[in-house]
Amino acid sequence: MKSANSTMSSLGTTVFEVMSALAREHSSVNLGQGFPDDKGPEAVRAAAADYLLTGHNQYPPMMGLPELRQAVAEHAKRFQGLDIDWQTEVLVTSGATEALGDCLFGLIEPGDEVVLIEPLYDSYLPIVRRAGGVPKLVRLEPPGWSLPRQQLAAAFSDRTKLILFNTPMNPCSKVFDRAELEFIADLCRRHDAYAVCDEVYEHIIFDAHRHLSIMGLPGMRERAVRIGSAGKSFSLTGWKVGYVTANAELMKPIAKTHQFMTFTTPPNLQWGAATGLRLDDDYFDTLAADMQRKRDRLAEGLSAVGFDVLPAHGTYFVTTDFRPLGFNGTDEDFCRHITVKAGVTAVPVSAFYDEPHAAPRHFARFCFCKHDATLDSAIDRLSQHFGR
Ligand SMILES: Cc1ncc(COP(=O)(O)O)c(C=O)c1O
Repeated sequence: MKSANSTMSSLGTTVFEVMSALAREHSSVNLGQGFPDDKGPEAVRAAAADYLLTGHNQYPPMMGLPELRQAVAEHAKRFQGLDIDWQTEVLVTSGATEALGDCLFGLIEPGDEVVLIEPLYDSYLPIVRRAGGVPKLVRLEPPGWSLPRQQLAAAFSDRTKLILFNTPMNPCSKVFDRAELEFIADLCRRHDAYAVCDEVYEHIIFDAHRHLSIMGLPGMRERAVRIGSAGKSFSLTGWKVGYVTANAELMKPIAKTHQFMTFTTPPNLQWGAATGLRLDDDYFDTLAADMQRKRDRLAEGLSAVGFDVLPAHGTYFVTTDFRPLGFNGTDEDFCRHITVKAGVTAVPVSAFYDEPHAAPRHFARFCFCKHDATLDSAIDRLSQHFGR
């Protein structure tokens, strides 16, 4: 038999699947994969249910339902002050994952360099490589995860087609500040590169931090692509409704990719997402405040168990250093160990690096977007296991 595509064939099963399967096998409290316990806003689910029963359940327009594209544009104006033409500058996708694929396949030519920032979300590298891109990786270092400006500048060249990054950032919960975004924007302008920004956690942001889209910075309106997800903004991760915003010219190759990848996304879920994006500010404030309270609950509990808990400014996750517990194995050993022996599951942070063996190996990521009882039960189990 002829061999299949080597990039895809060489990939293993994602760590989220592996750890979730282990969690099921051991009936552990799964704080590995990031999905909320909450059901999501009733108005959003009711809108989707109603549309399913009474709406037009046939192929929606390839770019997405007008109502959702208008809602995406209004939302960008309300939260980022961006003026977006919903007809030519918004595309609805089946989740941010498809949006990322559409952008990377639509923009990268084989041999183009692509700057990426580690630790990174696991879908980025396989798709960059499958699109023929040459990854140029820059690492953030714990515990501060600040932008290594010199290394980042050195990663750019005239062969750079784009930088792909994520803010608020999974797994390290960093929020890029204005100065960091300006630095990236300056590199993009100087090297004539695009910035594809994964902003799926734009509303899961804490304390005094504010989400800023790089698209709003001078000269970036034409070069930036912004990706959002209804899954994250409305605690409905199974819906897989995403949206891409980009200048009309840049959008063309991205939309062409979408056209032949999925063509469209279930119309009732698009309708529900449009309802969600139009919820009032109070909904978005409450979402962030609830998640912040959960972050604090889990972080305090993990600290009491003996973990060194790193600051988390956004997303669903806290990163912890488990060395103070006296565990000397790798992060993967640790996550297996606590799943099997303590009945709690986390994911190893080294899985978010291109070469896990050369990555930091003493961090575990715990997800806190769960009911209080779930978080408390995880803490009880860990306390008992580690004798705290
Ligand atoms: C950083 C990041 N980007 C993209 C996604 C995928 O989003 P979606 O479920 O909308 O495909 C996730 C999901 O966990 C994520 O953490």
